[in-house]
Amino acid sequence: MTKNQTIDDQKRAAAEAALEYVKPGMRLGLGTGSTAEHFVRVLAPRVKAGLKLTTVATSERTAALARELGITVADLDTVRHLDLTVDGADEVGPGLALIKGGGGALLREKIVAAASDRMVVIADEAKVVDTLGRFPLPVEVVPFAHVVTMERIAEAAARCGCGQNLMRLRGGEAHPFKTDSGNYIADCSADAIPDPERLARMLEAIPGVVDHGLFLSMAIAALIGTPGGVRVIEPPRH
Ligand code: 5RP
Repeated sequence: MTKNQTIDDQKRAAAEAALEYVKPGMRLGLGTGSTAEHFVRVLAPRVKAGLKLTTVATSERTAALARELGITVADLDTVRHLDLTVDGADEVGPGLALIKGGGGALLREKIVAAASDRMVVIADEAKVVDTLGRFPLPVEVVPFAHVVTMERIAEAAARCGCGQNLMRLRGGEAHPFKTDSGNYIADCSADAIPDPERLARMLEAIPGVVDHGLFLSMAIAALIGTPGGVRVIEPPRH
């Protein structure tokens, strides 16, 4: 291990490595979270030096940081299509299956990633797992009847063979966390998600679920900061 290297150093190294994917003239999606913030911070000097980009942000927080650093942020409805999105993740599992939404931005993150030709994930080594689910799966739900919706989510997790299905409303009932789109986040402690595709399908069928933090078959590469340098994970080619 490089002396004194911290998790934050690993995040920054992954963010720096992502600059390799950024080309002049690109339409670029900017992720949310501390690793994505590193990316915005390392990108800003390039933009200041003349790199021409059109960017779209996945959260109000990221948009504010980008603008503060001199990066112009456009609206996805204006740009329509992106070349690349660089974003963090809470877990990176086999086949680049991801859990995202720890920062509460999963809905916009998924909309932006889906509008991008390519999504590159940046993360520290602790995010890489053999089975998704140790990190509670964030599910964005509409406020109306969210308790009922959370019960349906727990049932879906149980039917999908998850290790457990404990639900928690982020922020608690008295002060629920609100997403940029005005919804709530239900965090599902599943412990292990043996079949993410099945759980994703079941969650998408529940009325009241806006979206979930399973990002499957979306990323083309993960750049993982490790004590020995940045490791690139790519999904197997078929
Ligand atoms: C926000 C996200 C983040 O990408 C995820 O939570 C990782 O965050 P960090 O880079 O701070 O570890 O999905 O909704």
